[in-house]
Amino acid sequence: MKFCIVLGSCRAQSNTNALCQGFIDQLKELGQEVEYVTLFDKQISPCKGCYACQQEEGYSCQISDDMHRIAPKIIEADVLVLATPIYHWYCTAEMKAMLDRLYPLNKYYGKAKNSLWNNKKLALILTHGYDKDYACSPFITGMQRLAKHSHIEYVGEYTVQDEDDINSFTAESAQQGARVFAKMLVNMCNNG
Ligand SMILES: Cc1cc2nc3c(=O)[nH]c(=O)nc-3n(C[C@H](O)[C@H](O)[C@H](O)COP(=O)(O)O)c2cc1C
Repeated sequence: MKFCIVLGSCRAQSNTNALCQGFIDQLKELGQEVEYVTLFDKQISPCKGCYACQQEEGYSCQISDDMHRIAPKIIEADVLVLATPIYHWYCTAEMKAMLDRLYPLNKYYGKAKNSLWNNKKLALILTHGYDKDYACSPFITGMQRLAKHSHIEYVGEYTVQDEDDINSFTAESAQQGARVFAKMLVNMCNNG
């Protein structure tokens, strides 16, 4: 199974990156193929809303930037994991720009027809300051709706609250939770 994990944090030494480490280690121990894409070191311009992507099959976008290297990794994956801190009740601006630039994966509004979401599964890893329901429900709801709209399966989320900066995420309990989440996703994917 191919997993593509996209980290939306704006900084390299981040809480969300720390939380992803146990998750990635567990996936690798279970023999999964893992692609880890960080956005803080990429250039992704906002979507211009030109709809040119809806006229061409495949990933096409008139903006030339790092999305042309990131999109193929997402398209090839069986499972897309969006790992992001919650910023103002949603994801970071970096991740939002990436999501908008995935518009070419659905072909609903022009002459192109073939979806590039390819029966993928979608999962989330979230870090947040407020409690889970208050902090994360708008983004979780948004991603569940994206999954429905794109005919892919939303398979769940793992979230950890920032109570003690980085220590909240390097803590054994947080890392263990990330490993359990990885095992659950692998089992779920192996069972269809
Ligand atoms: C600009 C900004 C906006 C934030 N907005 C929220 C928010 O709406 N809800 C919340 O629970 N936490 C919020 N936080 C806290 C972060 O989600 C939390 O500290 C997270 O673990 C940071 O992860 P990172 O180190 O990967 O960036 C915000 C932090 C920043 C810097």
